[in-house]
Order: sequence, then C-alpha cells, then structure tokens
Amino acid sequence: MYEILSKKTLNATVEQMEIKAPFVAKRAKAGQFIILRVDENGERVPLTIADYDREKGSITIIYQIIGKSTQKLSQLHEGDALADFVGPLGKPSEIDDVKKAIVVGGGVGCAIALPVVKALSKAGKEVTAITGFREASLVILEDQFKHYTKDYHLFTDDGSKGSKGFVTQGLEACLKENKDIDCVYAIGPLPMMKFVSLLTEKYGVKTIVSMNPIMIDGTGMCGGCRLTVGGETKFACIDGPEFDGHLVDFDEALMRNSIYEKSQKHQEESCHLLEKEVQID
Ligand code: FES
Repeated sequence: MYEILSKKTLNATVEQMEIKAPFVAKRAKAGQFIILRVDENGERVPLTIADYDREKGSITIIYQIIGKSTQKLSQLHEGDALADFVGPLGKPSEIDDVKKAIVVGGGVGCAIALPVVKALSKAGKEVTAITGFREASLVILEDQFKHYTKDYHLFTDDGSKGSKGFVTQGLEACLKENKDIDCVYAIGPLPMMKFVSLLTEKYGVKTIVSMNPIMIDGTGMCGGCRLTVGGETKFACIDGPEFDGHLVDFDEALMRNSIYEKSQKHQEESCHLLEKEVQID
C-alpha cells in the first residue's frame, strides 16, 4: 500500500497529492508517469509525475477530478493509502542538448510543464514559461513557475488574471524577441499543442509535445494512446509520452480523443442509470 503523505487543493477541480513510493522516487525523472489504482477493484489511472523527492521517497501527482476514478481518489485523505502505484513509466524529457527553452503549459497540463521547467532550470538552462488558463479561478502553480524561471508569462482567456489572450500570443512575442530559442515544450490540451506546433514550425524552432491527453491504461496493450508521428504508428505510453510536435498528426489525435470522451461519457451515464436502478430495486 502507498501512503498519502499530504493532500492539497489547487483549484475547484484540481488537487495535489504526495505519495510515499520510495522505489518510484528513486528513478523518477521529469516527463515520466505513474499508474495508480485507488483500490483493488479500481481502474488503472495514468498520471504524470509532477514532482519527486528522492530523500523523502515521495512522488507528487496532480489530477483533475473528471471521472469516477479521480472522484474516488479525491475522497481519500492524508494517511489513507492507494492499492497500487507503479512507475516511473515512459521516457523522460530530453533536455541535454537544450540551452535556451520556452515551456508552454495549458490548464491542468501545467502540472506536467512544471517538472520540465524545474529540470531545465536545475540543469542550468535558460527557461521561459508561458501558462494559460480559462480564467483566474483555474490558475495553478503560479508561484512555482515564478520560482524556477526568470521570465514567466501568465495568460487567461478572459483577462481575469495576467494578460488577456492565449499562450500562442505570448509565445509568438517571445520567439520574435529571442531568436536563439532552441526548443519549445508544449504541454496541455491537444488543440493548444497543435497551434503551438504550427506556430513554432513557422519560426523553425524544435518543439516537443506531451501526448498524455489520450493515454488510458498506460501499458501498450489497450491501443488507446495510439497516434501517428511522422507517418508511423506510435504509442504514447511506451514510445512517449513526448514527441516532435511538428510530426504529430494532431487532427487524428483530436478525432480519437473526442470518440473516447464520448464513449467515456456514455459509460458514466450508463453506470449512473444502473446505480439508480439498483437503488430503486
Ligand atoms: Fe493503452 Fe498506451 S495507454 S496502449
């Protein structure tokens, strides 16, 4: 069993947990993920490692409460334990050849963008962070981004915090000002990563995207995370989750994601109806 050392609310639907998992913490790197199960009958939930502490033997995860499993996870408290916590899985972020980078995070994707920022900063690279949210109440990890970067830009769609607009506006301004950026990392919703990649292609800047939004069981078995990269079939959970954004077929990924979301919604509605029927009986 894996003990929950601490739990924190980041906004109305996003929470952070620190889990005691010494073997995972020992080998964890930015960009990798874990798979947890809340209890023995629970679904496998893949989540990117938001932080790790090797001395303490802990892993920090950040999750959005969107389905049955994350709701179950959210009902747990400090001192409770998870049935399974496997990892680190996937390939770590490639940062060695980078000198000057921009990390773009969108919404809850910022939880994955932060460890990349942290790894770049700790390795002595020059890093700018640009994060975007729908509105002020959804902003997360602002202080941490400020702490690890010299240059941090916050955007909200409605202008309720930071600058009004989208991350691509901030990114274009930074790319115009800094001709020596050698890599952009984009982590967030698929449409955001698609438009970041289209923009950086125009400027000829290498771009890495994290294809976590379409991961399901994280084992290479379900095929849920299948995507096309440079005309080849890849699996985000074993070949990624990071890929060259200029080679990813985003339109296919967006289509697959919308099919999955519809079927997930359908399943949840069916479960809800079933629960109601059971109560009535
Ligand atoms: Fe199932 Fe990758 S998440 S194959």
